[in-house]
Amino acid sequence: MKILAIETSCDDTGIAVLSVQDESTSGKEGNFVVLANEIASQIKVHQKYGGVFPAMAKREHQKNTVPTFVKALKKAKLLNPRPCTLDPKKVKTFKTILEREPELLKRIIPFLKKYSRPAVDYIAVTNGPGLEPCLWVGVNFARALSYFWDIPIIPVNHIEGHILVNFFNENSKLKILNSKLPTIALVVSGGHTQIVLVNKIGDYKILGETRDDAAGECFDKAAKILGLGYPGGPIISKLAQKASRGPTPTDFKLPRPMMHTKDYDFSFSGLKTAILYKVKKDIGYAPLKPNFAKTKKGKIYVAEMCTEIQQAIIDVLLKKTLKAVKDYGAKTIILGGGVSANSELKKQFQQACDRHCEEQGQSGNLNLVFPEPVLSTDNGAMIAIAGYYNRNKIIDWKNLSADSNLRLGE
Ligand code: KG4
Ligand code: ZN
Repeated sequence: MKILAIETSCDDTGIAVLSVQDESTSGKEGNFVVLANEIASQIKVHQKYGGVFPAMAKREHQKNTVPTFVKALKKAKLLNPRPCTLDPKKVKTFKTILEREPELLKRIIPFLKKYSRPAVDYIAVTNGPGLEPCLWVGVNFARALSYFWDIPIIPVNHIEGHILVNFFNENSKLKILNSKLPTIALVVSGGHTQIVLVNKIGDYKILGETRDDAAGECFDKAAKILGLGYPGGPIISKLAQKASRGPTPTDFKLPRPMMHTKDYDFSFSGLKTAILYKVKKDIGYAPLKPNFAKTKKGKIYVAEMCTEIQQAIIDVLLKKTLKAVKDYGAKTIILGGGVSANSELKKQFQQACDRHCEEQGQSGNLNLVFPEPVLSTDNGAMIAIAGYYNRNKIIDWKNLSADSNLRLGE
């Protein structure tokens, strides 16, 4: 079985092809081979603004989807050059489906004339949560292809993709076995911050989430205040490594919003405001000019701030995740989303898991699982894997729509 996956929920256009050996013949669950996992990043476009503008991101998705799709099919050896005569009636409906994506339509028509239907069994597409205008590009592309080539569509929840990509190792073998369940998944990206209880694949409960900004968004906004580039997470993480000291000096201390509340929720917009006020107080103005971080004084100041910002975010994420682990007797922590690429975060989560094991003895084994960096940020492969597990939820292209607030387990 082959699954073509489409991901356009934020600022990465991801197209993947997953090959799955049938469980009944292979006898193994999830015998996956990722044949292609192509990603077109929009970082360069959004860099100037220090954040993602949905309308601009939508336009970029429209431009990038077809070239990324072609690359993925080529890599998966599914590109069949064969000039086809197109049925004008079919083309008319096809154009209607893509009428809100004119830039994409312009690029896909020549493709249809040149190549025939690729041998895929399903199209899995992210239909939420995410930025609504961006989601629609992928959804409409999936609808149009489904109609034209008669391929069933599987709608996929983006968060489930971030979770399920962790269930398999590089050899596509299931690594989170039943004995390692339930797990607590922390999905942290530019758009989401959620703690999810995963009882098993397909059985989820959102325990907590951010009430305002996402953790990645906080990294991005903090970087903007410090006059650094975009995306903020990797830059802050790199500069934090350059800070000279051990524990944070008290005059750099930032708040840890909601760290001690009894729920599993987060709030990161207060942290962003605290950073803004602190920089204004310390330096006299904010946001800082990009040149500030290049001065001798600026270098030290920015590095110290980056360390403290990163630590404040890690502290709250870790505290709430461990609370959920304890309350639900979880045996595994899963990390997912762009922020899970942060090496200090992974290090401190690992240390916490080791401490947990020492305190609890054999019975308290707590595993930490996170994806390799290319699979932690948005990509098509994670949508293909989640698609495989949702193949009983096929939907007619006429009934599929994007839902920016789609929620897991509801
Ligand atoms: O999952 P993702 O690629 O897209 C969204 O769904 O948002 O995540 C992007 C986010 C950005 O906010 C970026 O600053 C953050 O992930 N990020 C990081 C790191 N790498 C990416 N945050 C902290 N440390 C990193 N190393
Ligand atoms: Zn994401």
